[in-house]
Amino acid sequence: MTITQQDELDGLRKIGRIVANTMHAMAAAIEPGMTTRELDGIGHDLLEREGAVSAPRASYGFPGATCISVNEEIAHGIPGERRLAAGDLVNIDVSASLHGYFADTGASFCLGAVRPSLRHLCRDGTRAMRIGIAQVRHDRPLAGIGNAIGAFASKRGYTLIRNLASHGVGKALHEAPEEIATWPTSGDRRRMHDGLVLTVEPFLSRGGEWARSGSDDDWTLYSVPAAPVVQYEHTVVATRHGAIVTTLPG
Ligand code: CO
Ligand code: CO
Repeated sequence: MTITQQDELDGLRKIGRIVANTMHAMAAAIEPGMTTRELDGIGHDLLEREGAVSAPRASYGFPGATCISVNEEIAHGIPGERRLAAGDLVNIDVSASLHGYFADTGASFCLGAVRPSLRHLCRDGTRAMRIGIAQVRHDRPLAGIGNAIGAFASKRGYTLIRNLASHGVGKALHEAPEEIATWPTSGDRRRMHDGLVLTVEPFLSRGGEWARSGSDDDWTLYSVPAAPVVQYEHTVVATRHGAIVTTLPG
């Protein structure tokens, strides 16, 4: 969507805060031995308490309130009987709507003590997202987001998953502009404009290039080649002064 009035920004900020608070509360509640279904239940209850509706469930019939992806799963993991353990890499992605406004946020968390390479991947995944967000501004090219993230990733020997794109959001979970690359591209002439609402969500990896679904279900995505992957996501608004991040906890 394109925001033209203050009440639209207020509505987006409200659901942005709710999904951010939900995701962070879920991350803080993780205990070794907990199932991902239990963790999703915490997210479900928090959204419900705010009157918010899970977007993947309402929009696509996703079998969970939130997406929880563990280790080899990189996105759209279905909450279930899997038990979380120390050393796991857990991605939590929360998107929801309230009064017609949608926001989408995600982050990867290291559970307990993990090997340093995984810790660094999480740290640099956050940096990659911030570098992308710094490119968001009225009249800047959409491709600038992926080109800046790509430069950062290749300088540090990382790869980027190249078929999980960022997207317009606001009045629906996924809307125009579709397929915003978070990897280097050429030929995309689209530009951002004042008020445009979009996500920035690079998938940073040590070797992963593509996301592919598996044989167990129609949702869960895995890395090809197999490699650890992290994702960090905010919903932002492009303005003449840069990006407004709407998915901040508070
Ligand atoms: Co998301
Ligand atoms: Co998204």
